[in-house]
Amino acid sequence: MLAGLTGVAQPWQVWPEVVKTRTREDIRTELLRAGLRGRGGAGYPIAAKWADAAAGDPPRYVVANGDEGDPGSYCDRLLMERDPSRVLEGLALAAYGVGAQHAYVLVRSEYPAAVDALRAAVDEARHAGRLGHGVHGTEVDLDVSILVGAGSYVAGEETALLRSAQGLRGGVQVRPPYPTVRGLAGRPTVVNNVETLAAVPWIAQHGGLTYADLGLPEEKGTKLVSLNQLFRHPGVYEVEFGTSIRSIVETLGGGLRDGHVLRAVQIGGPLGGFLGPDDLDLPLSAPALAAAGAALGHGGIVAIDDTVGGQELLRHLWTFADAESCGACAPCRVGSRQGLRLCSSPDHRPPPERLLRTMERGSLCAFGRGIAGAVRSLLRVYASEFGEAE
Ligand SMILES: Cc1cc2nc3c(=O)[nH]c(=O)nc-3n(C[C@H](O)[C@H](O)[C@H](O)COP(=O)(O)O)c2cc1C
Ligand code: SF4
Repeated sequence: MLAGLTGVAQPWQVWPEVVKTRTREDIRTELLRAGLRGRGGAGYPIAAKWADAAAGDPPRYVVANGDEGDPGSYCDRLLMERDPSRVLEGLALAAYGVGAQHAYVLVRSEYPAAVDALRAAVDEARHAGRLGHGVHGTEVDLDVSILVGAGSYVAGEETALLRSAQGLRGGVQVRPPYPTVRGLAGRPTVVNNVETLAAVPWIAQHGGLTYADLGLPEEKGTKLVSLNQLFRHPGVYEVEFGTSIRSIVETLGGGLRDGHVLRAVQIGGPLGGFLGPDDLDLPLSAPALAAAGAALGHGGIVAIDDTVGGQELLRHLWTFADAESCGACAPCRVGSRQGLRLCSSPDHRPPPERLLRTMERGSLCAFGRGIAGAVRSLLRVYASEFGEAE
């Protein structure tokens, strides 16, 4: 049995019982037992993040990150559009665990149907007494607002997201202080990905240890993966950590449609990485992917067939990096421009290792670091085209 992220169970089942009979510490303990890590890309342990924010003085806030900027990823979109009440119940449980009286969902502007669905679900929850003043007849007050994001890719990074939620330019801020210490309006704030929050009701209902039985000892639970339109069966699937990439690609995805031949998969969006056909027996797990030079990111899996070459992909990646780098730090701003210039030169030069190293070591946020790793993994999978890396 999976954790119900794909909409099997009814939402708002566990919230009334939690808010009436359990303490904030109880719910945080359940999350600790579950071993749930953030699904937004960084994989930070959720119980620790909530405890950090709960240790600060009120008012505290929780923000659901629904910015989902990874091309090829639409897990959060589906959750918000098709199952908005589950996201809200997870957000409510997070707010309770942290001791926040106001919570927000920030939805990217390209997802208008998600905005409408969430707003309707908030209205319904207020009407049913699940949100508002004195939730379910208790002394707990909780309200939720739906905000619409500012658009750029980097605005999904948590410090940029919090700025954009306050009507400021969505630029990355130096951490520390982390948002759990100084976030929205300078107050302790938890930022959690939408998929992370959607897992919380199941954990509260079935128990953290039951959740921890799913997946791998080192990476517990389930993950949504989204397959692009080149698969015979594109869509979003919930799988346990440890499921092989091959079974996701061949069994769930059904292989490629119309006789296309798989040359590579891009996993985890532009900051993730590439896997070749020989890598498909790897398990879906952040450590295993990291060992292969890739990253799980948010679980987007994009099939690439043999009509697309490594040079074309490299140019695409650098073009994305150059366009989306927010420019706040030189290693990423200059490195992305330089990478694009080199691969667009007449001899299509791949970037020298020292450029990638500078981006990786010197970039202010995970954007510059992730692009460097993704480029390296592309050079590995398409080594026959690029030759030996410098
Ligand atoms: C450039 C960049 C873009 C990001 N975009 C998103 C995003 O769209 N959605 C998301 O949940 N996290 C995104 N993140 C990760 C967030 O900074 C943060 O780690 C996450 O929202 C925390 O939630 P989690 O602990 O539940 O994973 C991004 C990070 C970076 C560096
Ligand atoms: S790494 Fe790139 S995206 Fe991140 S702060 Fe620096 S310039 Fe901006």
